[in-house]
Amino acid sequence: MALRLGDIAPDFSAETTEGTINFHEYLGTGWGVLFSHPADYTPVCTTELGAVAKLKDEFSKRNTKVIALSVDGLESHRLWIDDINETQNTVVNFPIIADQDRKVSELYDMIHPNSNENFTVRSVFVIGPDKKIKLIITYPASTGRNFDELLRVIDSLQLTANYSVATPANWKHGEDVVVAPAIKTEDIPGKFPKGHKVIKPYLRMTPQPDL
Ligand code: BEZ
Repeated sequence: MALRLGDIAPDFSAETTEGTINFHEYLGTGWGVLFSHPADYTPVCTTELGAVAKLKDEFSKRNTKVIALSVDGLESHRLWIDDINETQNTVVNFPIIADQDRKVSELYDMIHPNSNENFTVRSVFVIGPDKKIKLIITYPASTGRNFDELLRVIDSLQLTANYSVATPANWKHGEDVVVAPAIKTEDIPGKFPKGHKVIKPYLRMTPQPDL
């Protein structure tokens, strides 16, 4: 059955470039990103893994661990990492799952046979500290992902996990946020002392509360 938001991210053990990993143990008590790419030694994937390596500090700041996956084997991953490091001027600093038996790909429905029978698509799962799936996105093989967007969504998820707010279209860290509909307008000043604007009774804005 397809995974949906709010489901527990299925646990698994897998061989990775950093040894055997149990997924839930690897995530620990923090946030996680599991992302698949179609194949090793392909141009778009090479740029993607390099981009994620360069963002390691940004993910760490958000208490988020990343882990990649493709259906190629460990030896292939290891040799390809040398190419990524060389061409993208970085050092791959996160594990890549060698999912040759497709166990994890199938568990997470990452192979879309009508797109390609043999390879995973570009799936992304963001997982919260409660091990529940908070975000699922699927990109086509030919489109490299925007990992700044992923950081933006994690910022939004972490904010809304702690405050009764949501984030509006194109929101970025530091901008005003939306007060959750469940909060009565008369209760806003007590909860959001930095101020608020009532644009419509259902559209109330307040400065980002954790700054
Ligand atoms: C790539 O990573 O470059 C790629 C992979 C599969 C299809 C097209 C491009």
